[in-house]
Amino acid sequence: METVLVVGSTGNIGIAAVIGALRSQCNVIAIVRNQASAEKLYMHVGTREGITTVEADITSDHGVQGVVDLVKTGKLPAFQHVYSAAGGLYGATLLHELDTEELHQYMNVNFETNFFAYRATMPYLLEQNNPNSTWTLCTGGMGDLGTRAAPALSQGALYSMSNVACRDNQATNVRFNEIYLTLRVEVDESAEKTGFFRASAFAATYCGILARPEIRSCRISVCEKEDIKELKFKEKRCDMVLKKDD
Ligand SMILES: NC(=O)c1ccc[n+]([C@@H]2O[C@H](COP(=O)([O-])OP(=O)(O)OC[C@H]3O[C@@H](n4cnc5c(N)ncnc54)[C@H](OP(=O)(O)O)[C@@H]3O)[C@@H](O)[C@H]2O)c1
Repeated sequence: METVLVVGSTGNIGIAAVIGALRSQCNVIAIVRNQASAEKLYMHVGTREGITTVEADITSDHGVQGVVDLVKTGKLPAFQHVYSAAGGLYGATLLHELDTEELHQYMNVNFETNFFAYRATMPYLLEQNNPNSTWTLCTGGMGDLGTRAAPALSQGALYSMSNVACRDNQATNVRFNEIYLTLRVEVDESAEKTGFFRASAFAATYCGILARPEIRSCRISVCEKEDIKELKFKEKRCDMVLKKDD
């Protein structure tokens, strides 16, 4: 049985990732910030079975690395897949009012968490050389919409990180993909009140990615309800052409 390491596991998207992993017959290592978060996770997923939780500070540059070190020493099970959905800061401070401290906080929580996760886990996955490995990142539409400054800036950095990771892993054993989600997804308990999309439904997108090896180095766009199950994906690579003024 394969195992998915989930970063940001207790959030709306992280819960969908855990549900998708379990439905795909995978076990889960869920990184949580504390025991209260772990209990929240079990409650939203509806089971403890197949889930190992481990506490780490994903905002620190050695938090996820510490988890990988535990895996390497056999204190945690080996993993073959990573799903990163950390972040969630969504404030509306205007661009020209964003002070340095707030900017750093956004880049740390919304961007660096996912980058630190990549930097800590990718060498491990490459070293294991399992041909089924995947790495999945969830981004949103804010970076294109530009409606909220700090969330938009941090999304922009995630798009660039995806571009690089898609290119770097085109020929490795790890299928890197970006889920570009413009729908609002919430844990079921919340979605039932607000009318937005349920995490348990959005889990289908991750099941699709895990099951389809042809989805590699792609952006999977989830912009309509039907996109959750009928995956719309496009290779992310763009080749640079050095134009000349002739
Ligand atoms: N939800 C959507 O509809 C949607 C749509 C498009 C894109 N996205 C993107 O998906 C990502 C996750 O969104 P979400 O809605 O799942 O967010 P969320 O519900 O707020 O979850 C964020 C996750 O990050 C963790 N986290 C946040 N700050 C932390 C901190 N300081 N220390 C430790 N852990 C921290 C949370 O842990 P705790 O539970 O312990 O707080 C949680 O696991 C974001 O990048 C977002 O832009 C989401």
